[in-house]
Amino acid sequence: MQTFHVLFLTLGYFLVVNAQSFHLGRCPIPPVQQNFDIAKYMGRWYEIQKLPAVFEFGTCNQATYTLLPEGVVKVVNAELLSNGMENSIEGTATVKNSSQPAILEVSFFEGASSAPYWVLSTDYESYTLIYACTNYLGFFYVDFAWIMSRSRTLQEETITELHNLLTSNGIDIKRMTVTDQTGCTAMTQEGVSVTAE
Ligand SMILES: *[C@@H]1O[C@H](CO)[C@@H](O)[C@H](O)[C@H]1NC(C)=O
Repeated sequence: MQTFHVLFLTLGYFLVVNAQSFHLGRCPIPPVQQNFDIAKYMGRWYEIQKLPAVFEFGTCNQATYTLLPEGVVKVVNAELLSNGMENSIEGTATVKNSSQPAILEVSFFEGASSAPYWVLSTDYESYTLIYACTNYLGFFYVDFAWIMSRSRTLQEETITELHNLLTSNGIDIKRMTVTDQTGCTAMTQEGVSVTAE
């Protein structure tokens, strides 16, 4: 009992200090995009805002999705580092249950555990809203969200609607940050058109 109490206090302190996107309780379960069409979703997306993702440091963040055979999606995430170098990482995303096509799992390293990738809302042509949440130990969770656009900007009205969609589903967006999409011409993939197969 004593040990548990100490553990709980320590963990509580850790959660408060590292209050990133840690929350007590269990993951919200927002509805996902109806009739999700993965083929229309392929191609380039630019990050407009995100709930802090500690593994991203650069600017000009972008994701490029390509549909491979067997319904596997090739994922290439790229960003510009402050030293002017482009940093990119390649992974795959898959739909686990074909009756829930907007719920994907993405993994970047062989053998590493996959992360959720839920498409909450997209019109395929201008915006997408992605949510990822993982429960830990049954009493807290860590979540991420990304608002992405087909261009490096997105209409304020759309951003507001997506914020409302998140908050109305119990998702805390206080820590949402705006991604710097200026000065991106150094990105080598800039201007290369990427089309889905
Ligand atoms: C797939 O999703 C459907 C609808 O939500 C659910 O009823 C079914 O149990 C799921 N199948 C598996 C294998 O998880």
